[in-house]
Amino acid sequence: MSASWSDRFEAHLEAAVLAHPGSSLVADLLSYHFGYGAYGPARRGKRLRPRLVVVAAQAEGGEIEAALDAAVAIEMVHNYSLIHDDIEDRDELRHGRPTLWARSGVPQALNAGDALCARSVLALADASAHHPPARVVRMIHALQRANLTMCDGQSLDLQFEREPHVDLAAYTTMIAGKTAAIFAAAGELGALCAGTDDAVGTYRALGSAYGLAFQIADDVHGIWAGEDATGKQPGTDIARRKWTYPVAWALSGPESAARSVVAQAYGRGEPLDRADVDRVVDALDALGAREAARRASAEHLARIERHPQGGVRDFLLGGDPPA
Ligand code: IPE
Ligand code: IPE
Ligand code: MG
Ligand code: MG
Repeated sequence: MSASWSDRFEAHLEAAVLAHPGSSLVADLLSYHFGYGAYGPARRGKRLRPRLVVVAAQAEGGEIEAALDAAVAIEMVHNYSLIHDDIEDRDELRHGRPTLWARSGVPQALNAGDALCARSVLALADASAHHPPARVVRMIHALQRANLTMCDGQSLDLQFEREPHVDLAAYTTMIAGKTAAIFAAAGELGALCAGTDDAVGTYRALGSAYGLAFQIADDVHGIWAGEDATGKQPGTDIARRKWTYPVAWALSGPESAARSVVAQAYGRGEPLDRADVDRVVDALDALGAREAARRASAEHLARIERHPQGGVRDFLLGGDPPA
């Protein structure tokens, strides 16, 4: 992926996010979230979903220019989901800075997230400058269906915080919704931007496989990587009794002293304190849960290795995310 793609995308995204007529508090809040203007330079997201849109479009013979609106729209959906996710997860740090709700309060952050979601539909409608109306409608359907599926996944994730046990099948259903659906839509949008119909299902499946692998890796980072690497506060998933892959895997295994530590901490049905979190992490280490998660993530990625387009494979198997 050339630097020029990144520059063009960033300029397009910034203009689209800030395209409020006149002055607006919402625009200022979104400016803060993205680290624009007076709030920059700031650590930014990895832009994985828009990159997948563009890489898939190019692999199918499409032009970058014709994929930029869809790339921007999916990054907006992703970022509205992050703004709301940090409220839902009570997380106070993202990209190494206070989250929008921690800085400006829950009501304003909720509203700014809603505005960004609305902007995503308008950004995608702009794709009609490059594509026939029927294709743009298909793109809007693809993205907003994925948005709905993401909301279902988020709902399961939050519900699971109250469950005494979540098995690996239920965990996979949850991450297929909260994370893989948007990556699947990225693949789908890329193929649609290239004007192909035949490849849409293939790219949707590819994005979904990547999304499952990505979320499992993100779970691992959330437990074992430090704040410098992730820009997020480590250990909060366990403190909230989140059902991440390492925990669901550990509790699906045979009885052992280490497994009992995890089971008891999660069985109490209330948030864990720092000492409990440390004990659970030690127990997960002793059980080999980190390695098990790496294997599970690699199994999902293996489905991508068979994809015929080298550029797509190189990007998805490139190996740097998540951070
Ligand atoms: C974070 O996604 C949310 C998850 C689905 C795990 P990313 O790690 O892609 O977020 P940014 O945009 O790069 O910060
Ligand atoms: C990922 O949520 C899914 C969405 C944001 C929709 P997580 O809660 O697992 O991701 P992080 O770790 O906060 O980025
Ligand atoms: Mg969450
Ligand atoms: Mg979260």
